[in-house]
Amino acid sequence: MATTTTSTGKRPAKPKARARTSPHDAVKLLMKDHAEVKKMFKEFEKLASKSDTNGKVAVANKICMELIIHTQVEEEVFYPVARAAINDEDMMNEAKVEHDSAKDLIAQIQSMDPEDAMYDAKVIVLGEYIEHHVKEEEKEMFPKVKKAKCDLEELGEKMTARKKDLQHGFMKLNGSLNEEHLKSLAMKMYTKH
Ligand SMILES: [Fe+2]
Ligand SMILES: [Fe+2]
Repeated sequence: MATTTTSTGKRPAKPKARARTSPHDAVKLLMKDHAEVKKMFKEFEKLASKSDTNGKVAVANKICMELIIHTQVEEEVFYPVARAAINDEDMMNEAKVEHDSAKDLIAQIQSMDPEDAMYDAKVIVLGEYIEHHVKEEEKEMFPKVKKAKCDLEELGEKMTARKKDLQHGFMKLNGSLNEEHLKSLAMKMYTKH
């Protein structure tokens, strides 16, 4: 498709910067996670409304796992770079507090009997917390990080490697979710009341 015509004497256009389409861009990776987890919350609500207990618990466990991994990757890899780059301590502190609230709810969900009348409400409220948090990241934090011209490629590669590591810990040899690992990690996330 590309043409090398230079009859006008102009140089051929430079190819677009790799960062625009790279699958390793840190912000794009985080936004992809956000979109996936949003879909899972919708799926949870659908299954809960049909009283499909096994189905909804499987989705809730997947949500909890994905959120534990996502928040950990953000806190270990993305947030420190963002904090240094954008000089907005208040916003970064609020993001961390929001993570802690979400983890607390995850811990409660993982310690509950799915037949408990409060189970669905906890998962749905977790979805609302996450929706609010994601909006702040995508509308405020990520634009600032992009403007600060961080190396989003390098950051994305580090995040992908860490994510794979963490995912590995959640999987049994047969590829299914290791629920015991999920529960024990979730229990460690309870904040002191
Ligand atoms: Fe996020
Ligand atoms: Fe976050």
